[in-house]
Amino acid sequence: MALRILSLFMLFYCSISYAELITSLPGQPFNVSFRQYSGPGCSSLGFGAFMELGPFKPSKNGSLVKNDYSWNLGHYIPQLAKLLIEYNRRPSTKPIKLKSIALGNPLLDLDISVQAGNYLWAHGAISDKTLYLERTVCNNSKYLREYAHNQYSEGCNYVFNITVPDEVGKDVQFYDLLLPKCPSDLEKISCRNVIIQASCWPLVYQEDNLDMNLIPLVAEIIQEGIPIWLYSGDQDSKISLTQTRLIANNLARDLKLVTFSNYVPWYDKKQVGGWSQSFGVATEGESVPYLTFVTVRGAAHEVPFTSPSQALTLFRSFLSGSPLPRPRVR
Ligand SMILES: *[C@@H]1O[C@H](CO)[C@@H](O)[C@H](O)[C@H]1NC(C)=O
Ligand SMILES: *[C@@H]1O[C@H](CO)[C@@H](O)[C@H](O)[C@H]1NC(C)=O
Ligand SMILES: *[C@@H]1O[C@H](CO)[C@@H](O)[C@H](O)[C@H]1NC(C)=O
Ligand SMILES: *[C@@H]1O[C@H](CO)[C@@H](O)[C@H](O)[C@H]1NC(C)=O
Repeated sequence: MALRILSLFMLFYCSISYAELITSLPGQPFNVSFRQYSGPGCSSLGFGAFMELGPFKPSKNGSLVKNDYSWNLGHYIPQLAKLLIEYNRRPSTKPIKLKSIALGNPLLDLDISVQAGNYLWAHGAISDKTLYLERTVCNNSKYLREYAHNQYSEGCNYVFNITVPDEVGKDVQFYDLLLPKCPSDLEKISCRNVIIQASCWPLVYQEDNLDMNLIPLVAEIIQEGIPIWLYSGDQDSKISLTQTRLIANNLARDLKLVTFSNYVPWYDKKQVGGWSQSFGVATEGESVPYLTFVTVRGAAHEVPFTSPSQALTLFRSFLSGSPLPRPRVR
């Protein structure tokens, strides 16, 4: 059984028409408050289970609790993949073949992923002085750790509760920096998440741990031979493309992956959809891009909401395991 795990996508494009609503997954011990789908999915998806995951996370006893941090996907999917790999190693289980994983604007490492200073500064949203304060007094990860423990230092409070909001202004959304002020209910959009996940729900009860660094886990998944795509809506400052690119480059270096394609634009409907680069291992007769980094131009934290057409092009390539569309050679 070929199974792919994606984040965010598909439900918008094909799954609802192809997939059937399911009331519970095998072994799922409770009734969930969100919809789940199963079915053949898009042409090359194989069989998958689709789950809508709102602003909730599974608690240890299997019930859903509110997720205080709007970052489920990047956080849980690598853990889920790891559990799948472990599950497959158990004797006398029918293995669930995981083919590839795509993660959009994922929180993979608190110390890297959430640092927004450079991004906001380069977009003119904070001043030189504030960037300096973030470098010397308090950065995003320090602030988020304090926030999680509800213990604010004077420095962090000054930088992130006063200076940054004053400069950025209240009409700008961090998850979509260039979005014009929207009169409609933004909450609805920002809270809505969709993931496609494997049918191993009972395996994913893991305590949320803010300090978890998922990069080693992602490295392990790649070393198992499972390709990973890291894509990034380039208007998101919460988990910005610069930080995800840093993680991709570090992974490629640490895993000694070679550059498969130069850093180039990819296309959607004759427009530049974003930029991408892939890394991999070249073996005789077969070359597999194990790591693909993609930006989505003009997209926000949740790519399909702001950029459905680019998202579809991106996911077509992902599902078929083929490179993103390039411009025609002139
Ligand atoms: C789930 O809901 C169904 C239908 O409402 C009910 O029959 C079943 O007992 C519930 N299961 C659990 C574990 O609560
Ligand atoms: C399960 O855990 C959640 C959160 O820790 C708690 O609110 C809920 O009451 C627990 N439910 C049961 C049945 O123990
Ligand atoms: C963020 O701040 C912490 C604590 O001061 C520091 O250890 C860490 O290196 C900083 N991270 C970055 C990326 O500057
Ligand atoms: C942050 O600022 C707001 C008002 O600007 C204030 O009400 C709140 O208490 C501050 N938070 C902390 C942790 O000091």
